[in-house]
Amino acid sequence: PVLVVDFGAQYAQLIARRVREAKVYSEIVPHTMSVDAILAKDPAAIVLSGGPASVYADGAPAVDAALFDAGVPVFGICYGFQAMAAALGGTVAHTGAREYGGTPVRVDSEGTLLAGSPTEQTTWMSHGDAVHAAPAGFDVLATSPGSPVAAFEDRTRGLYGVQWHPEVKHSEFGQKALENFLYDGAGLAGDWTPGNVIADQVAAIREQVGDARVICGLSGGVDSSVAAALVQRAIGDQLTCVFVDHGLLRAGEAEQVETDFVASTGVRLKVVDAKQRFLDALAGVSDPETKRKIIGREFIRVFEDAAREVVAEAGAHGEDVKFLVQGTLYPDVVESGGGEGAANIKSHHNVGGLPDDLQFSLIEPLRALFKDEVRAVGLELGVPGTIVWRQPFPGPGLGIRIVGDITAERLETLRTADAIAREELTAAGLDREIWQCPVVLLADVRSVGVQGDGRTYGHPIVLRPVSSEDAMTADWTRLPYDVLAKISTRITNEVAEVNRVVLDVTSKPPGTIEWE
Ligand code: XMP
Repeated sequence: PVLVVDFGAQYAQLIARRVREAKVYSEIVPHTMSVDAILAKDPAAIVLSGGPASVYADGAPAVDAALFDAGVPVFGICYGFQAMAAALGGTVAHTGAREYGGTPVRVDSEGTLLAGSPTEQTTWMSHGDAVHAAPAGFDVLATSPGSPVAAFEDRTRGLYGVQWHPEVKHSEFGQKALENFLYDGAGLAGDWTPGNVIADQVAAIREQVGDARVICGLSGGVDSSVAAALVQRAIGDQLTCVFVDHGLLRAGEAEQVETDFVASTGVRLKVVDAKQRFLDALAGVSDPETKRKIIGREFIRVFEDAAREVVAEAGAHGEDVKFLVQGTLYPDVVESGGGEGAANIKSHHNVGGLPDDLQFSLIEPLRALFKDEVRAVGLELGVPGTIVWRQPFPGPGLGIRIVGDITAERLETLRTADAIAREELTAAGLDREIWQCPVVLLADVRSVGVQGDGRTYGHPIVLRPVSSEDAMTADWTRLPYDVLAKISTRITNEVAEVNRVVLDVTSKPPGTIEWE
């Protein structure tokens, strides 16, 4: 792999993604990893990320100069660039002139790194220190107003660096510089594609599983669907998927899993209809946290029972169910410290804890992938676009989008309103602009309306369209008025019980995306 050494800024994940966009596989490692441990991973190239510190600050993460003598091409970015300069005998100093944001750079010599990019270009910078003198043996390629040395390289030793952030889209030729490093500087091929990911994973899963049996909990979301399709591609009917229909899904979703997904992947599916069970358990409950706990608890119980059945059926054929598939993605791995290898677990991150008598080893075929890569793999596997492009939908489903207690009638009301909103947003071509658009039924609220000649006393529906990168923060999406008008007209006309549609114009924070 190409290793991205994370110096503690928020850029390492972005760099890793840009490397992968260049069709080269990359992984993130912490800057605390020793040079020996880094080299033990047999990196094809190394990228040193930006970071918040000054290289001269107390406790600033340094780079062991041994890293540069290992014969592995290295690309230093921002802090990584300065750390490389400092480690190899260059001069890094406070200029007093911070460069932040769009910054003009003048290229004096293209070298390998800046080949094919123009003499004057805008880059995105964020730094207080600057490299004043390059280490011996380096060619200075570019300068900026605040950086006497803004880019350098020592082609013979395979060492490259830029002061700016090439991974940020505002750096016009950033991706070009990164690709120059990967293809020309490090001689890499750019052949990491969804097709190759699938081939590698299929081989790895077959080796891990042998002829054992595997179980997978399907939620209908992107991650579990693509993970299941990949495992199915590898081992066919050794995989059984369990789909718990808790009755809190949106219109058409259960059918999508039961028909579209199965038809396109051939997955062997066990559907558990638990609608009534969930309704009974939730009857009369309106407190959000209590609802969430009940839904989580019931979900685990139903999944457990189904898993036991699958194990029992397999046992009848003398086979063992030894593995559980999980749709864990790379950001989860990085954020939880990046442990490696398959752990023996008792919990399922979508499901909660499994009981002690059900012990599975994990299969996590998406562990190395970012969300957009999961989608590309899913499309390549033939998973329907309706599933691959699905927006996030919470595990507790419509249960946390009814403010008030949950009944079958209220679920039906919300489901109808939600289907109209989704239909109109899709028709207006807005799906990719919106992160997600919860539709909420205020079942505990009534307001007076007039329809035809009569007074109505119905419930409001809330539209909560949000734009977001990661759901940690969000802004309300400025939907076109005519789209809002159409949704409002249709919902109030077509959904009995609803006589008002309101728009949530709160960012997160202070609001959360979901209402409960
Ligand atoms: P909030 O409401 O906390 O939501 O701003 C952030 C994101 O998480 C989703 N969400 C959930 N997803 N199980 C899930 O799988 C849950 O219990 C859950 N609660 C919220 C929400 O839809 C949004 O994308």
